[in-house]
Amino acid sequence: MTANTPQITLNNGVTIPALGLGVFQSPPEETAGAVETALHAGYRHVDTAAAYFNEREVGEGLRRSGLDRDEVFLETKVWINDYGYEATRPAFDKSAGKLGVETIDLLILHQPMPSRFDLTVQAYKGLESLLADGKVRAIGVSNFMPEHLMRLVAETDVVPAVNQIEVHPYFQQTAVQDANTKHGIVSQAWSPIGGITFYPGWGGDDRRSTLDDPTIREIAERHGRTPAQVMLRWHLDQGRQAIPKSTNPARIAENLDVLGFELAAEELAAIDALHTGVRGGPDPESITLAEHGAEIPEA
Ligand SMILES: NC(=O)c1ccc[n+]([C@@H]2O[C@H](COP(=O)([O-])OP(=O)(O)OC[C@H]3O[C@@H](n4cnc5c(N)ncnc54)[C@H](OP(=O)(O)O)[C@@H]3O)[C@@H](O)[C@H]2O)c1
Repeated sequence: MTANTPQITLNNGVTIPALGLGVFQSPPEETAGAVETALHAGYRHVDTAAAYFNEREVGEGLRRSGLDRDEVFLETKVWINDYGYEATRPAFDKSAGKLGVETIDLLILHQPMPSRFDLTVQAYKGLESLLADGKVRAIGVSNFMPEHLMRLVAETDVVPAVNQIEVHPYFQQTAVQDANTKHGIVSQAWSPIGGITFYPGWGGDDRRSTLDDPTIREIAERHGRTPAQVMLRWHLDQGRQAIPKSTNPARIAENLDVLGFELAAEELAAIDALHTGVRGGPDPESITLAEHGAEIPEA
């Protein structure tokens, strides 16, 4: 099957498929299979991270798929332990080595780490040098709030191509999305179908899953689609790139099959109205080496 996902053009002219496969919490032993399944189903983008500890298996899945390296857009993230100009360049070598590739399509900083923003800026300058050397095709950030973007843009030369942030119907971060747009940065939605509102072992018992939301379910039933498909279509219609995670072949295929129906303006607005203001992930302001540090092994 060939890829037919729409493409989004980044601010440096590089294109990225509008939907990709996420692999956060994909167990290493299931990751290669999930990536291979996704690539056979038509995905051409995979989002991993050094701190997911499954880059090696993502590379294995790519090789098993039989696709050429340049047919697949690979994105990964530098973890905070490797921040700093001198540390971030070797972080590329670790990720590229584990993925088994020469170049990475999109390399981003995983967190802003406001307690050491000086190191964060140096890390970004490391990304800029990797871009200049042709080791990466685009660079970006994740979980950056508008004030972090403003400081970064003031202190560096290359505007990030993407800002990967938590966006699902219950937490939409419109101020961050607006700041991204103002700077020419693509908003990339993590937990796009609200994974963080329902995945096991996170949050309290009072959590509500976006998959069970009555408004989303009603829209899905009207179109003969699933809640996940409705949420993914909402992201695409609003110009966001999205990276749903699944290790289940049927759900991997379902999440890519979102083009054969259209959401009406009032349906999009009804989903917009579901915002609760409750963040699922950690507050980016709170990320510190002391609390969140994790050593990233060599390749
Ligand atoms: N930058 C960051 O800080 C950050 C943080 C979190 C995530 N991310 C990235 O974003 C990706 C996606 O986010 P996420 O994993 O948090 O959440 P998500 O993609 O919104 O949801 C994933 C969850 O939904 C289930 N699922 C997948 N498709 C489904 C479907 N069609 N119907 C019902 N359930 C379905 C998955 O289980 P099964 O696998 O069993 O299908 C999994 O439990 C991650 O994998 C990662 O790449 C980035």
